[in-house]
Amino acid sequence: MKTNLQKTIDEIIRVNHAGEYGAQRIYSGQIKFCKEKKLKKKLETIIAEEFEHYDYFDKTMLKKRTRPTVLSPIWHHGGYFLGAVTSLLGEKYVHACTEAVEEVIVGHYNAQIKYLESLGVEKELLKKIKKFCADEDEHRSFAEQSNQSDQIVDLFKGFTKNLTRLAIRLSKKI
Ligand SMILES: [Fe+2]
Ligand SMILES: [Fe+2]
Repeated sequence: MKTNLQKTIDEIIRVNHAGEYGAQRIYSGQIKFCKEKKLKKKLETIIAEEFEHYDYFDKTMLKKRTRPTVLSPIWHHGGYFLGAVTSLLGEKYVHACTEAVEEVIVGHYNAQIKYLESLGVEKELLKKIKKFCADEDEHRSFAEQSNQSDQIVDLFKGFTKNLTRLAIRLSKKI
């Protein structure tokens, strides 16, 4: 039987594994349909980091015998779809999507950092989450700096943030 703490750690690993998977699917959809050379290169740098993040949670998941979310097929297709659509809509939407998703992820990682620090457990996991959180914040700030917002873009950003929050809530539990 797993203790309550172990169950919470399982949730942390499950949701992060799902999130990093979703992130690489979004970026891969964006890269596939990106026509701007410079932006494409930057997205390729970002996705390499998302692969690295995902790998860590994938290995940790096996080590701790955590089950993955059953929602993977949805994140697989939904993430790619979101990436592809934003790329087809144009650079503004790519940045809006990155900014929205990464902002929610940074908040999500910061909450986990606070939680793990307060308990003084899982030092290795904590170190990795801190490193990944800094990477995500860089992705977010790149998008923020590049973005030219307008009303519709802002609406889209709000929508994407809510979508990300929902994905996080669901992936923790199921
Ligand atoms: Fe990531
Ligand atoms: Fe990221």
